[in-house]
Amino acid sequence: MNKIKNTLFSNKPVTIDENSIIMALESSCDETACAIVKGGREVLANVVASQIKTHEEYGGVIPEIAARMHLEAVNVVVEEAFKQAGLKGDDITAFAGTVGPGLVGCLLVGMNAAKSLALAYDKPFIGINHLNAHLAANFIDTDLEPPFIALLVSGGHTQIIEMNSYSDINIIGETIDDAVGEAYDKVARLIGLPYPGGPKLDKMAQEGNPFAFKLPEAKVDGFNFSFSGLKTAVLRLVKSFDGKDLPVADICASFQECVSSTLLKKVKKAAEEHCYKQIVLAGGVAANSEIRKKIFQLESEGYKVFAPPMKYCTDNAAMVASAAYFFEKTFDKTDVEVFSRA
Ligand code: KG4
Ligand code: ZN
Repeated sequence: MNKIKNTLFSNKPVTIDENSIIMALESSCDETACAIVKGGREVLANVVASQIKTHEEYGGVIPEIAARMHLEAVNVVVEEAFKQAGLKGDDITAFAGTVGPGLVGCLLVGMNAAKSLALAYDKPFIGINHLNAHLAANFIDTDLEPPFIALLVSGGHTQIIEMNSYSDINIIGETIDDAVGEAYDKVARLIGLPYPGGPKLDKMAQEGNPFAFKLPEAKVDGFNFSFSGLKTAVLRLVKSFDGKDLPVADICASFQECVSSTLLKKVKKAAEEHCYKQIVLAGGVAANSEIRKKIFQLESEGYKVFAPPMKYCTDNAAMVASAAYFFEKTFDKTDVEVFSRA
């Protein structure tokens, strides 16, 4: 791949090829991360400073606290990434940073750090969409290339995406209310599990009976999803126990069964109807044990299935660097600013 594009801070166009080394910063929510990736697939450094311990006390992410913590951590993760890779600023081809969607105060920290590095070393800056970054996590250490169909499941989004080339990406379905990660976090809170709810619910589900309770699967047209009805059904179920001996593991397992089978059905239908042979799972919820299990079962039906390893499912900067390398459209931005919603 050889791309010549204009980017912010580069009057001279930058050539991106297999030898390009991109440093990326990610700070859209509660992880401050910096990574260095060569040729879009080879991770030379990957540093993540998580704020989970702090936010645990409040039961969720407090944006102002998160932004301040990013400020404290950002220089540390950059220095650590240079150290891990054994590289200096002059060795970097371009600097990338997540520009949205996410928490604006948080995004500003990582994006401005990446812009400052670009200015200091006289290199281009590349602004990256967080959702493209989650998708790009699948390029790391693999030989994946478009065309493929992707199921993107995160804290803020649930989408079925067709990727026909690095610049031809179409969303063909999405949630009409809650995102999958959001539903996990809300249900976890409802049944008394601490923040971060999604991974805790997943763990608890493994000890329960997935068929203990029949929860309703929303009937939504096409490739769209809805999870708010399911959340209400869990609330009703919890109330029916009137505070007595809540079968938490069985509720978790039944909820997880309902969500994972809905996702499986839709992504399979999309792959069948739109004739894709490769299926890609992406986003923080791609770390979920049951969703992974069900999607990988599609391999027995002839599909090639990809899902990032755990460390590249949840927020990290390696996926941001990979997106900077692969997604052609990201190179067209010359005056990017942060944004909160997609
Ligand atoms: O992709 P991500 O960073 O969110 C956005 O970019 O919006 O992922 C965070 C989301 C949270 O909702 C978290 O609860 C969920 O991913 N998550 C999980 C698991 N690990 C993370 N949900 C279910 N099972 C998991 N194992
Ligand atoms: Zn994310």
